[in-house]
Amino acid sequence: MKNQNTLFPRVAAAIGSVTLIGALAACGGGGAGSAAPGEEGGSQAAEDVTIGVAMPTQTSERWIADGEAVESQLEEAGFTVDLQFANDDIPTQQQQIDQMITKGADILIVASIDGTALGNQLQAAADQDIPIISYDRLINDTENVDFYVTFDNYNVGVQQATSLLQGLGVLDAEGEETGEEGPFAIELFAGSLDDNNAHFFWGGAMDTLEPYLDSGVLEVASGQTNIEQAATLRWSQETAQKRMEDLLTSHYSGGSDQLDGVLSPYDGISRGIITALQNAGYGKDIESGLPVTSGQDAEIASVKLIDTGVQYATIFKDTRKLATQAVEAAKAYAAGDEPEANDTESYDNGVKVVPSFLLESDIVVAENIESLLIESGYWTAEEVEAGQSK
Ligand code: BGC
Repeated sequence: MKNQNTLFPRVAAAIGSVTLIGALAACGGGGAGSAAPGEEGGSQAAEDVTIGVAMPTQTSERWIADGEAVESQLEEAGFTVDLQFANDDIPTQQQQIDQMITKGADILIVASIDGTALGNQLQAAADQDIPIISYDRLINDTENVDFYVTFDNYNVGVQQATSLLQGLGVLDAEGEETGEEGPFAIELFAGSLDDNNAHFFWGGAMDTLEPYLDSGVLEVASGQTNIEQAATLRWSQETAQKRMEDLLTSHYSGGSDQLDGVLSPYDGISRGIITALQNAGYGKDIESGLPVTSGQDAEIASVKLIDTGVQYATIFKDTRKLATQAVEAAKAYAAGDEPEANDTESYDNGVKVVPSFLLESDIVVAENIESLLIESGYWTAEEVEAGQSK
């Protein structure tokens, strides 16, 4: 274990030389907070440690849930929290992080909009020994990121493609090949190219789909099979809907030219795709001819669509667990330790391999909404029924 004073002197100064958790426990609630920052033997209340939390947007409910979960769990641990959402606007996020640093943040937790746009902010943070935890999305091209908490993003892509193959009947519920030979007409959507995750999702999905594209079980009539062609800037639902409309007009003229499935990397994008397909007369649900569509995030509107047979699947990433890992990492820094990584190989940000903690995700289809989402308390049965969070 490194000495906190050499690891991040600033945090050490903020919390004194007794570790935060130990300090609080040792004081038994009676005498914390009397020593000056950095004073030997002193300690400060956890609330004197401020943690800046930068989230990308409130337009997607997962990020609202992430922000709230991180905030509440940090507050439970006694920290002071400065939570900001950046409206998917890069200058706004840069400004918010600048302000967090100016206002004296001791630790930063950052879910970036563009993984390469925060260089100046992170340099300023590093100059003040502020530990930087990259949240869900890796911050690229900088030395100044200390830890990364995320899901196994490559595997999320594998799961998205697997769910598409299951919906088409090429794989069964256990993931075994059924012998179904198609050919099935599919189209491919990717996320925002400036989000590192989009590349991992795509990589996992394409590695899974490629054997079937090569053997002719799957066909992409548009020929748009590289990530640049399939990308959706800022993961926008409207952009995805427009691209789906254009693909239908140009490549699926009706008759036997019918689309069977769509690889979608995110529920908002899936809903844009589904709207375009419904407007083009594909039917209201899968049973009546709507193509099979994948997704991600288990957003409540999409969970309802899955429950009612409109969207085929989503990927559930429990944001409460991700928040817990971010809070654990923050606690470790506050105590002068290094957070515990479970992966030290996968996430090279262009300058270094960032020690990471990866969580697992699950495929959600109509049959397991109850066991995965309702029983775990992620959504209530009423919310699923309404398609809206309370
Ligand atoms: C996240 C996904 C999310 C997407 C769009 C990605 O970085 O990992 O969970 O669907 O951003 O918000």
